[in-house]
Amino acid sequence: MGEILGIGLTHYPGLMAPDEDRAFPLTRMLRNPNVSAELKNPSNWPEPMRIEFGEDEGVSSAKDHRARLVKGFRKQREELDAFNPDFVLIWGDDQYENFKEDIIPPFCIMAYDNFDCTPFAHRKNNAWGEPNDKVFSYKGHPGAKQLVTKLIEQGIDMAYSYKPLHEEGGLGHAFINTLLYLDYDRKGFPYAVIPFSVNCYGSKVIRNQGGAIEFGTADDPPGPTAKRCMEVGAAVVRAIQDSPWRVALIASSSWSHAFLTDKHDKLWPDQESDRARFEELKAGDYDAWRNLSTPQIEAAGQQEMLNWMCLAGAMEELGRKAEIIDYIETYVFNSEKCLALFKP
Ligand SMILES: [Fe+2]
Repeated sequence: MGEILGIGLTHYPGLMAPDEDRAFPLTRMLRNPNVSAELKNPSNWPEPMRIEFGEDEGVSSAKDHRARLVKGFRKQREELDAFNPDFVLIWGDDQYENFKEDIIPPFCIMAYDNFDCTPFAHRKNNAWGEPNDKVFSYKGHPGAKQLVTKLIEQGIDMAYSYKPLHEEGGLGHAFINTLLYLDYDRKGFPYAVIPFSVNCYGSKVIRNQGGAIEFGTADDPPGPTAKRCMEVGAAVVRAIQDSPWRVALIASSSWSHAFLTDKHDKLWPDQESDRARFEELKAGDYDAWRNLSTPQIEAAGQQEMLNWMCLAGAMEELGRKAEIIDYIETYVFNSEKCLALFKP
């Protein structure tokens, strides 16, 4: 019978660049000519945001933000190594990377033989000072195909793919950033990987190309509901229980994103909604998550939490509650981050 370790974390792209580069989504917004001078003026921001931004455009706060996240990633890596899985399954969003106009699957298991990624190819530098052409290679696992079969047998009509469609670098940001953060100290990542793509961006996936800029006016159809994500997560657990594998189930995403939070003019995330989700998670109130509607999720800028919904459904199926490593609120660094473990 399979064994499962649950991990929830973030793939926040801001950590990829050195803090001094100020590569924060807020900095981009402040340079955007379409954002009004009034909104750009820190005196019109909430006080904690002004303090976090400080006198150095957030650089010292970014260092603290990174330190807390890296501490959490190290703890998660320690647990992962102690668990020693046959493979890690990562639920992550595709922000107009591998999936574009030709197809947007609600879910897709990438059952590739291996993944060769060059995450720094289009960056001027990176936080580790590694060469821009460095290749990060991960192996796939035959369990991916078997998992698809076992999901279909349970009534989940799962899409799968054997090679990348548009993501030439191998893996989109949600997956590769997660792997880089779980190997922040570059010990190497010896575990096989099964990326499990979730259409988190729904109505904005093509319209906004998974980002902040609106390229069109008409909404795309929605992504899967929170309820469906939880059903898929639970079905994944049943499939693994019926297998010989040791598996780390990983949800990778921040929670509310500033650039998706229209009520805050896309400048800071919806702390209030995230706090509600956090209390529900701590209490193991999975019903509260299941009952979230897509408009509620979108209004809170919590689109990427669908990755966590898959994990929540899985952990509910196992009867597990979250052990919180850290919960980080921020105004300046785009999104709230929760780091959690769900141990056997
Ligand atoms: Fe993302």
